[in-house]
Amino acid sequence: MQTQEMTRTKEPASAGDTILSVNNIEVIYDHVILVLKGVSLTIPRGGIVALLGANGAGKTTTLKAISNLLGAERGEVTKGKIVFKGDEVQALSPNDLVRKGCIQVMEGRHCFGHLSIEENLLTGAYTRKDGAAAIKADLEMVYNYFPRLRERRQSQAGYTSGGEQQMCAIGRALMSRPEMILLDEPSMGLAPQLVEEIFEIVKQLNEREGVSFLLAEQNTNVALRYATYGYILEAGRIVLDGDAKALRDNEDVKEFYLGVGGEGRKSFRNVKHYKRRKRWLA
Ligand SMILES: Nc1ncnc2c1ncn2[C@@H]1O[C@H](COP(=O)(O)OP(=O)(O)OP(=O)(O)O)[C@@H](O)[C@H]1O
Ligand SMILES: [Mg+2]
Repeated sequence: MQTQEMTRTKEPASAGDTILSVNNIEVIYDHVILVLKGVSLTIPRGGIVALLGANGAGKTTTLKAISNLLGAERGEVTKGKIVFKGDEVQALSPNDLVRKGCIQVMEGRHCFGHLSIEENLLTGAYTRKDGAAAIKADLEMVYNYFPRLRERRQSQAGYTSGGEQQMCAIGRALMSRPEMILLDEPSMGLAPQLVEEIFEIVKQLNEREGVSFLLAEQNTNVALRYATYGYILEAGRIVLDGDAKALRDNEDVKEFYLGVGGEGRKSFRNVKHYKRRKRWLA
């Protein structure tokens, strides 16, 4: 306990500091499969940062490395380090990290299908020790951000819509009173209007509650509209990063990720064509 208190004093206090830094990490699965090759990211306190990339680029692996969940996947950070609020995450258990304020919302909006929405939200408070009244107040806060969840509070989560389940997963993360949320593909499988609704709430949580976000997304378009900064991951390496606006204006990003000026989204999976244009690759 004492060491935790002592480490807290090391935390940067002012806004504009770095809340999370990932320094040149390498991740290997099953001792042999090299998936991340020198990934570095900086997330400023109070920022919304997008981690973009196609299927299999390594977005989920990066988020799991940060929340120290790779062990369950036979994965390991073999080089580099990750620092959250002054502490190396490898030295913390996933629960310690949640207590310290960093929580991941998994890809595929994992809810407990047999529990009600409200019961799901309450499971998010499991690391807290500040009593029932504080937890009840935060439940109210979650319902204020997500009115749909209030309406569906008694419904069995497994029978609610995909959008409601994504909201439930984010709401459950909020119940741990996080300072930073790692959000893995919140837009996946949702209609555009719902995606917009969820990103609007992310923005409000960022502005009003001061929650920092690292958003893993394939949906570059929406992510770069809400994020302040973005990183593009290709086959386990960061190939481009910059302010969200600069990325939106970047010709390669437009061509390969935003699908501007052609018949819809250009195929960046078309390797031959892509290789000719991969001028940002090392
Ligand atoms: N447990 C695992 N064991 C071995 N390889 C894995 C494991 N999990 C992921 N991989 C591999 O690591 C690479 C990166 O996967 P990851 O899930 O991080 O990508 P992603 O960017 O999140 O993709 P998606 O957009 O499809 O979610 C892929 O090639 C994948 O096959
Ligand atoms: Mg993923």
